[in-house]
Amino acid sequence: MAGSTARPEPRTTGRQTQTAGQAQDPKPDRNQDQDVTRRLLASSATLSYDPAVEVDWETPLDKDFHGASPEWSTLYGTAYWREMTEEQRRELTRQEAASVASTGIWFEMILQQMVLRDIYAKDPTSPDFQWALTEIAEECRHSIMFARGAHKLGAPAYRPRRAVLELGRAFKTLAFGEAAYAAILVAEEVLDVMQRDWMRDERVVPFVRTINNIHVVEESRHMKFARDETRKRLAGAGWLRRQLNAFVVAVASYFIVTSMVNREVYAHAGLDRDRALAEARANEHHKAMMRSSCAGLMDFLASVRLLTKPALAFYKRAHLI
Ligand SMILES: [Fe+2]
Ligand SMILES: [Fe+2]
Repeated sequence: MAGSTARPEPRTTGRQTQTAGQAQDPKPDRNQDQDVTRRLLASSATLSYDPAVEVDWETPLDKDFHGASPEWSTLYGTAYWREMTEEQRRELTRQEAASVASTGIWFEMILQQMVLRDIYAKDPTSPDFQWALTEIAEECRHSIMFARGAHKLGAPAYRPRRAVLELGRAFKTLAFGEAAYAAILVAEEVLDVMQRDWMRDERVVPFVRTINNIHVVEESRHMKFARDETRKRLAGAGWLRRQLNAFVVAVASYFIVTSMVNREVYAHAGLDRDRALAEARANEHHKAMMRSSCAGLMDFLASVRLLTKPALAFYKRAHLI
């Protein structure tokens, strides 16, 4: 179906009904704190998408469209932007959207491994366990969708810098508990705000709008879970643990956010890389967009007392606050 629309209809198959049945826990004495995952499982059973079917992969890329809302471009509002032709602007936002999708894949790989490690040896009959596997399945579909999307946008393989890739490797191997779930939440929230704008924007190429719509719908479940897990795991945490995890989450967030737009996008859009990088770094409009979009996230981090002073310094450096 999709392509012409940014609002795919949910799949309703017999297989899904069966999944919904499995979400019902037969044991009445099961602890109440699995209510959230029980509800998320039911939601996933009724509203999930198969990007292989929903996204229009066939229609060739129409270069009259942007890849993202221009206002989200790292160069929007700069002198360089004013000098660019409309064609160059569209190519830049397409490369930027592909870069954000590629960074999304990188983070989703980290996330899937952390969640899988977290449920290792846990009770497979529990909603928590089944929800975790459901979230991994959704992320797996997202990553394939982002990969195909970036390819269709005509982008090369954008990957974070070597040092950041290695930091990610350490993080996905070592992070657990609230550090893992709060970092997951930051990445998901930052992506969510951009994608909500792009999915509604008629200047954005239709297949990208469908991709963003699918992601926004399914990620709202993931964010609910990440918020819930962060809260639960921090309940009763002492001062030192809170300080340590607040710092780890802030550093992880800094590298995730600063890796969103790869420095090579400018050259691939036919621009002068050094000039573009310098103007993007000084772009107050883009910093303001990031700050305003992260207001809700920062409120949440403050409410669970993860906005410690050292953490705040990193969020400020990444222009999230
Ligand atoms: Fe995702
Ligand atoms: Fe997610």
